Amino acid sequence: MSTPPTDAAPLRSVLFVCLGNICRSPLAEGVFLHLAREAGVAEALEVDSAGTGSWHVGDPPDPRARETAARRGIRLESRGRQVTPDDARRFDLVLAMDRSNLRDLEALFAGVPEPRAELRLFRDFDPEASGAADVPDPYYGGDDGFEQVHEMVERTCRSILEARVAGG
Ligand code: 4NP
Repeated sequence: MSTPPTDAAPLRSVLFVCLGNICRSPLAEGVFLHLAREAGVAEALEVDSAGTGSWHVGDPPDPRARETAARRGIRLESRGRQVTPDDARRFDLVLAMDRSNLRDLEALFAGVPEPRAELRLFRDFDPEASGAADVPDPYYGGDDGFEQVHEMVERTCRSILEARVAGG
């Protein structure tokens, strides 16, 4: 699919995508919405998350992700859904949480007529990342993995807001 330039028009919609849609992408969705509300720009934005896999369709986020967010006063309210080719037409920006997710999305979106979405790696916006960097999957690890992921997600979401959302 074609990728519009990074100085494109202000962002109106963003989709975060990971594998299961119960750990990393719901956290990114919740944190991004929280920061957008704090900045007073949430009304103008559509924010969503999805998984490349279908195992957790309809499920709430992993309890460890919810607890990590709750410690910062953030409620994660999404339910799992699987990404579809139509998401390439619905969203301005689609952000893959790791390189494997990005490859899956490139394959899924290939051949979508007139895609709107700019497809990028989430940590392309992380000021502390160098090169192509993944958000590590915390699903099979301990609670500290979720803390590290939260910190990474928060600073990256701040940087997306600053870079792409007027007033963010
Ligand atoms: P996520 O983590 O991609 O950050 O939501 C995962 C959650 C569940 C599974 C894999 C990754 N799973 O295989 O069920």
